[in-house]
Amino acid sequence: MTTTTLTQHEIHTILEVAILAARQGGAILLDYAQKGFEIHRKGQSINLVTEADLHSEKTVIHTIHQAFPDHQILSEEQGLQDIPTHPIKWIVDPLDGTTNFTHGFPMYNVSIGVEYQGTCLIGVVYDPTRDELFVGQQGKGATLNGTPIHVSLTPKLNEALLTTGFAYDVHTAKDNNLKEFCAFTVRARGMRRTGTAAIDLCYIAAGRLDGFWELQLNPWDTAAGKVIVEEAGGKITNYAGEPYSIYGHTLIASNGLIHQEMIDVLKSCREEQ
Ligand code: IPD
Ligand code: CA
Ligand code: CA
Repeated sequence: MTTTTLTQHEIHTILEVAILAARQGGAILLDYAQKGFEIHRKGQSINLVTEADLHSEKTVIHTIHQAFPDHQILSEEQGLQDIPTHPIKWIVDPLDGTTNFTHGFPMYNVSIGVEYQGTCLIGVVYDPTRDELFVGQQGKGATLNGTPIHVSLTPKLNEALLTTGFAYDVHTAKDNNLKEFCAFTVRARGMRRTGTAAIDLCYIAAGRLDGFWELQLNPWDTAAGKVIVEEAGGKITNYAGEPYSIYGHTLIASNGLIHQEMIDVLKSCREEQ
């Protein structure tokens, strides 16, 4: 493979492997959801990890490595694999929505993004409970179970259904998103909380939600969803309206039409802090 361009065949093969790995991880999650699993706390925080996260991660990494032994992989529990630098980096959340999962709340997924030379090319999110597979490929659109999806046409914030999430330091952090949550709650038509950032992004892409904002997400939460939102015609930036980086600190994703209103609300909340 050259390091400057990927052929359509190479991209197609990567996408197929990403879909296979996401489905395998999803099947593992469903299996643990039925038979039960051990839960551990990460340090003293409310952040949890289960047997299911670890087993899904092991399987996803194995499938990627079988197909592409020299690609980089960054995954939530194992971190960055210690292999030589390669222009392709897989970014894996083997279970996005761990808190939901531990409570039997059926909203969780496997999220796999593929970066090439620092640009997110492919995103795959698989929700095993609903058997919903979201796929985005740069320049090729976004799909849900093979059918093209598009963001909503909701024109204004006061007609919008919004979502957000809270970081695991919400009990102690000063910058905890509560002020922003109140501000949007009294301005939007409705507020929902899925408990998984990857689903929040996919639901923006599918037009089920109109806007999403969150602080302190990690690359594995958003690498796949970023491509899916953009390919569905949505907009994704940081709170200042600048291009979103999956390594950045703040995120707004929307149908594009309510984006500026969301930026304005966040700006006013944060100026007052
Ligand atoms: C979490 C979820 C949640 C978001 C948290 C993430 P995890 O991921 O995406 O929606 O609010 O910030 O850490 O821990 O379930 O993989
Ligand atoms: Ca996550
Ligand atoms: Ca996770």
